[in-house]
Amino acid sequence: MSKQLILALSKGRILDETLPLLADAGIEPAENLSKSRKLLFDTNLDDVKLVIIRATDVPTYVQMGAADLGVAGKDVLLEHGAEGLYEPLDLEIAKCKLMTAGIDGAKPARARRRVATKFVNVARRYYAEQGIQAEVIKLYGAMELAPLMNLADEIVDIVDTGNTLRANGMSPRELIAPISTRLVVNKAAMTMKHQRLKPLLERLALAVEQRR
Ligand code: ATP
Ligand code: PRP
Ligand code: MG
Repeated sequence: MSKQLILALSKGRILDETLPLLADAGIEPAENLSKSRKLLFDTNLDDVKLVIIRATDVPTYVQMGAADLGVAGKDVLLEHGAEGLYEPLDLEIAKCKLMTAGIDGAKPARARRRVATKFVNVARRYYAEQGIQAEVIKLYGAMELAPLMNLADEIVDIVDTGNTLRANGMSPRELIAPISTRLVVNKAAMTMKHQRLKPLLERLALAVEQRR
């Protein structure tokens, strides 16, 4: 195992909140990320490199050891399963909730509830735990459209302000899990690269604490 540390960052909305936190912990990309088409970046630290990838790919990179550590939403980790990963730190950014939601005042769903979501594993587990029969329909975005188009009775999605639901005549129903962004570490790396990881994790934890 090389002494390099590869840190996988989720692109999209988490990235904008991750970079200032990393900077507070003393890690800064060597160049302007938004001005580049590159995916692998040097940092101000000789032995730390960044990869910027789809949020849903972060657990896979870290689990397989292609990256030593990563930054991912708890929703993504719950959906992925995140076996072979440690989750040592809540970065307390991109806070939101995973919820069920439906059309305001909709009549009771049919016996087998149709649920549209991109979180199919989370949804299957949740409805099974509730003892509710559900047919889970995989979508890749705009879940809020599904009940309006009578594709589904209910959705499982991220809710923050609730604006997206409201704008589509829907409201939140049940809370499945509170969500925030987590730091994840490959289990083998945690042992093999502990000496290098430890100060990094401590500085990140401190950066999180200083923001409270
Ligand atoms: P993609 O665009 O690749 O399909 P995505 O829509 O999940 O992925 P983002 O919208 O960038 O990607 O969201 C990344 C993460 O930010 C999510 O996994 C979740 O943890 C968090 N998140 C998503 N929506 C919100 C929101 N409205 N408010 C706060 N945090 C959110
Ligand atoms: C996310 C999520 C909801 C919305 C919730 O979508 O999928 O649609 O935010 O936030 P709100 O409760 O504050 O309205 P996003 O903006 O990431 O769009 P996307 O569908 O392109 O991922
Ligand atoms: Mg999104």
